[in-house]
Amino acid sequence: MLVRKARLQDASNVYDLVNSLSGDGTLLKRAFSEICENIRDFTLAESDGGVFLGCGALHLYGPHLAEVRSIVVKPEAKGQRAGGRILAGLIEEAEEHGIQSVCLFTRIPDFFFKYGFRTVEDKSELPDKVFKDCQNCPRLHRCDEVAMVRGRIPRISILGARHEAQELVKISG
Ligand SMILES: CC(C)(COP(=O)(O)OP(=O)(O)OC[C@H]1O[C@@H](n2cnc3c(N)ncnc32)[C@H](O)[C@@H]1OP(=O)(O)O)[C@@H](O)C(=O)NCCC(=O)NCCS
Repeated sequence: MLVRKARLQDASNVYDLVNSLSGDGTLLKRAFSEICENIRDFTLAESDGGVFLGCGALHLYGPHLAEVRSIVVKPEAKGQRAGGRILAGLIEEAEEHGIQSVCLFTRIPDFFFKYGFRTVEDKSELPDKVFKDCQNCPRLHRCDEVAMVRGRIPRISILGARHEAQELVKISG
């Protein structure tokens, strides 16, 4: 099995797999254009024969926070460590960027506990994530996902007009 960064040629496989699980809310629905635009966020696993097995993305909010998104393995490839290896690759990528907090929202916290994530009781402790995704989510007031973070909870946020200028100044120190 090979775990590598995605290329634009992988966008169709990523799009099909991610959206196959967006109907029930397991994953956020992603447009093909959005996948292409953000293809450099994606890491994927493929078999020794080059067959696509699964993918995951690391979204960078800024030096204070990244998020694991769209992590999924094809049903027939589950249980072969592809998901774990993709996740480990995304964590390593965040570390290479010097980012100490990686967050995610999930319905399967047990999988992420194994990789050093812990639950965050109050989602408002991750305001950038809430601003990016929750505002437009149809399940805003009946969210069944658990917020998790690996590393410290960020002390700052940068999304939203209220914060933007002030917090960017803080980051650039
Ligand atoms: C979650 C998912 C990516 C895991 O991929 P996978 O390749 O099957 O997982 P791995 O084989 O790497 O498993 C690594 C470890 O996690 C555990 N694990 C796997 N899936 C799990 C789950 N759903 N819940 C809890 N633990 C899980 C495995 O038992 C294994 O544990 P071990 O190290 O103690 O043996 C895969 O099941 C999937 O695509 N699920 C549907 C999409 C989804 O829910 N994504 C998460 C959205 S936030």
